[in-house]
Amino acid sequence: MAEQITREDALTREGHRHACHIMLYGDSSAKLFGKIPIKHIVLMQMRFDGLLGFPGGLVNPSEETLEAGLIRELHEEVGVAVPVGVDNHVSSCLSPSCPRLITHFYIKKMAEPELKELERAAVATATDHGLEVLGMVRVPLYFLKNGGGLPYFLSHSFISNSRAQLLSALQSCGLLSQGELEKAVRQAQQMRR
Ligand code: GTP
Ligand code: MN
Ligand code: MN
Ligand code: MN
Ligand code: MN
Ligand code: MN
Repeated sequence: MAEQITREDALTREGHRHACHIMLYGDSSAKLFGKIPIKHIVLMQMRFDGLLGFPGGLVNPSEETLEAGLIRELHEEVGVAVPVGVDNHVSSCLSPSCPRLITHFYIKKMAEPELKELERAAVATATDHGLEVLGMVRVPLYFLKNGGGLPYFLSHSFISNSRAQLLSALQSCGLLSQGELEKAVRQAQQMRR
């Protein structure tokens, strides 16, 4: 587990770089194959390096607030202005993979039509599309036969601690039960062997 610190403490640390990423999500009544409720839309992205992660990026707190920097990164990577405030901040961590990097995590709930518009803009207008971002992806939250759905998704490779950020966000937003999360993690682990 990455070491967690407060937003205030993070901003007083000298010689650290800061990165802000966000989970954009919302409810959906759509059904896969006309029968399996997808329940929620949760957005991540396929990065240029082949790893999954959340939209966002490096922010320079001496030139911009964390939230203004995140809004700038979202504009580059998703192609739309998404209002983000301090109330969307959920955690700040010393990065487990990158020394002297502090990763700030945000969560924002949006309406389904807004999320769909954002998915279109990510292809149509985002300057980073096809470059630093290879595409937005939705996280499958359901369970199919033989590990299909969330277990397979979790068996992929993720940047830094974004996989842990995803799991804790799914729990804190109440998108899946503790039992479902444990089952998905257990099945994903069996696939990686
Ligand atoms: P450049 O414009 O090329 O600088 O990229 P960027 O500003 O978009 O930065 P990026 O999104 O790659 O994030 C910077 C660093 O934060 C990465 O090198 C990772 O170490 C880390 N990182 C990237 N995505 C995530 C994420 O979803 N969660 C966490 N915790 N860390 C991330
Ligand atoms: Mn089909
Ligand atoms: Mn970026
Ligand atoms: Mn980025
Ligand atoms: Mn950047
Ligand atoms: Mn860039």
